Amino acid sequence: MTQTHANSAAAPATTVEMVNLNVKILRFNPETDKKAHWDTYQVQAQPSDRVLDVLNNIKWYHEPSLIFRRSCGHGICGSDAMLISGRNRLACKTLVRDVAKDGGTITVEPIRGLKVERDLLVDMEPFFDSYKAIMPYFINESPAPAGERYQSELDAERMEHSSNCILCACCTTSCPIFWVNGAYLGPAAIVQAHRFIFDSRDEATHQRLNIMNQNTGVWRCRTAYNCTEACPRDIPITTLIEEVKRAIMFQQS
Ligand code: SF4
Ligand code: SF4
Ligand code: FES
Repeated sequence: MTQTHANSAAAPATTVEMVNLNVKILRFNPETDKKAHWDTYQVQAQPSDRVLDVLNNIKWYHEPSLIFRRSCGHGICGSDAMLISGRNRLACKTLVRDVAKDGGTITVEPIRGLKVERDLLVDMEPFFDSYKAIMPYFINESPAPAGERYQSELDAERMEHSSNCILCACCTTSCPIFWVNGAYLGPAAIVQAHRFIFDSRDEATHQRLNIMNQNTGVWRCRTAYNCTEACPRDIPITTLIEEVKRAIMFQQS
């Protein structure tokens, strides 16, 4: 006779660690508010959740009128830059455990220096105007080669950092010079200019250095490092700005 034994050992219960959070969001509705005000939401989250998950939770289950930008959810599109617990960050790249403990508070505000349209949504047009000003496209009037335009490994390394920029604006909107003078092109535009200035295949280096040499360009930078600390792609922005400054001086000498 064959005996069968039911497995009486209970499967180990999986316990999911949850933390209680107070999420303070600076809100503004131009149709009803004269100025921005804080709203606080009590929610639960896993420490490994991202702040974007927490905001989605609030929007989907507590406050559907909350407005913020997001798209890829993976640190690629640069849409969800915001001031999270006092620092510019991407909500999709910021884990709850890195900004709050159980019972703690996370503050979320729009990035600074750009007009707030509503809640966490800012007008990005001035930021992209600065981007357009540096001619962010490849320029080469020489006859195209039969095949690809080759670049040596060494030449490619020169633009390795700057080509990682995702135009999130974390840097420019953390720059005190940009806050007081919106005409300053700002670190993101300089990083983008660097990407083409140090591209060995591009032929508009002189034009872009002239743009960088204007009073809205690199000389406004006071090397305060806010931008470098804010960059979610770890781009050494201040070093790149210094490289552009040196390229201008080298061109003029
Ligand atoms: S290093 Fe320059 S660009 Fe960066 S935050 Fe400071 S002043 Fe602004
Ligand atoms: S340099 Fe960094 S912080 Fe600035 S826009 Fe690019 S990715 Fe964002
Ligand atoms: S949603 Fe795309 S970078 Fe965060």
